[in-house]
Amino acid sequence: MEIMTALEAFRGFERRGIDFYRILAERFGDGKSARLWRECMNTEASHHAIFMLCLDWAHMWRWTGPKPDVPADPEDLAHEAEGLTALEAEAARPGLTEGDAVELALRWEERELPRVLFIAGHAPGRGKGQLLAMLKEAEEHYKDLEEVARIAGAADALRPRFEALRARLREAVV
Ligand SMILES: [Fe+2]
Ligand SMILES: [Fe+2]
Repeated sequence: MEIMTALEAFRGFERRGIDFYRILAERFGDGKSARLWRECMNTEASHHAIFMLCLDWAHMWRWTGPKPDVPADPEDLAHEAEGLTALEAEAARPGLTEGDAVELALRWEERELPRVLFIAGHAPGRGKGQLLAMLKEAEEHYKDLEEVARIAGAADALRPRFEALRARLREAVV
């Protein structure tokens, strides 16, 4: 797959991340965790902005040299999109508790980390460094979610998964 097509698809996933957290920030906007949900939404907005920059860089690269292919499979991307659609539907489900919501967000992040790690390795120019820097900051993103989990009384149940996610992040970017 051509790099621009791949980056555009990955940018789209981050765009959906903004909307996913916006839904949750609106649903739980009156509680103690409102600020944290909004923070997650802003984090996704910053991810989206970085992908926009990556697209710009890839675009410039296009004029100055051959554009590489990325070993991204359109079927895998379609599968990823379906997975996100299912999470979005659950985020909008009536009766969703905040404990359910934070588990859902964790599932979102469990998809996002390997996805961004994959594309970071193929990003052109300064894009790779920017994406890796973005991933380093994911520790804070996970901390915000863990704090929501604590407020919602779901922290103990979700701790092993947060730890696994953090371990995977550290292994890849530290
Ligand atoms: Fe993101
Ligand atoms: Fe995220």
